Amino acid sequence: MRSLLFVPGDSARKLEKAPTSGADALIIDLEDSISPARKEEARATTLGFLEQFGKISSRPLLFVRVNSIASGLIDADLDAVVAGRPDAIMLPKAEGGTSIVHLDAKLAAREAVHGLAEGTIRIVALTTETAKALFLAGTYAGASTRLTGLTWGAEDLSAELGAEANRGEDDRFLDPYRLARSLCLAAAAAAEVQAIDTVYVDFRNEAGLRREAEEARRDGFTGKLAIHPGQVETINAVFTPTADAIAKAEAVVAAFTAEPGAGVVGIGGVMYDRPHLARARQLLARAGATRR
Ligand code: COA
Ligand code: MG
Repeated sequence: MRSLLFVPGDSARKLEKAPTSGADALIIDLEDSISPARKEEARATTLGFLEQFGKISSRPLLFVRVNSIASGLIDADLDAVVAGRPDAIMLPKAEGGTSIVHLDAKLAAREAVHGLAEGTIRIVALTTETAKALFLAGTYAGASTRLTGLTWGAEDLSAELGAEANRGEDDRFLDPYRLARSLCLAAAAAAEVQAIDTVYVDFRNEAGLRREAEEARRDGFTGKLAIHPGQVETINAVFTPTADAIAKAEAVVAAFTAEPGAGVVGIGGVMYDRPHLARARQLLARAGATRR
């Protein structure tokens, strides 16, 4: 998943436009973009969309962001949408592996009710939206085989920290949020799931989006959240492995294949050891997944 586009779950108009956006996944939102008065309507609209688009074979992945475990709304959200068999549930304000275990159990019960095989619905978690969550970033590994990705958020965290801003005048995230970003990246690597970078809210600023996406890719993120269809093309371009990167990865794999048992090889005057091989294989796997 290179691009994951948020779509407010109460907007029939945006839901209609989203499937042709080019995003690898759509995240239909029942949380922050939906006012309390419209939650019920959004659940119904979301279920209708899932039932309609779920059947189409060539479609983006369909995720639903439910309300947090602490909100008191998550059970009604899941009761409404699991029948539409979303590919994954995004859990906001997750606080470590225990939150994932909790959601896993909630999903298992609903899967049974709807006759779905246990584990059908995956989980993606928002890891840094509370202060407490930062200290639990290392606890996601092994929580549930449903977990496929971790992402992070700066908006709720800045409110919780009492901050005046989360970005500096140069548009870059300030220290507390850079820490959150790094914790998410390490948490995802430790849990062996995909690391997904956060949203870029200035949605008309293509250069800013591109810079932030490139920095994310450089550091190990393999995808980025989007809030507007206009952001999808840039994100997909940045996270699609280039022909040059693929060729380099293939050369690394070929060099190790030619010398079975070697721990280290030299290619063009540069040393490559086993971590390089692992990275090359990951890149080729991603390249294969996006070559459709
Ligand atoms: N998904 C699908 N379609 C979207 C969209 C989205 N996230 N955001 C905008 N569009 C559509 C609009 O409906 C509009 O199409 P139309 O004129 O044919 O109706 C077109 O794209 C252009 O939209 P634009 O006028 O540039 O933006 P806007 O002012 O209508 O919307 C936002 C701006 C931020 C309100 C909107 O992008 C949005 O709702 N984003 C998602 C918010 C969200 O889910 N937040 C929670 C996670 S942080
Ligand atoms: Mg939020």
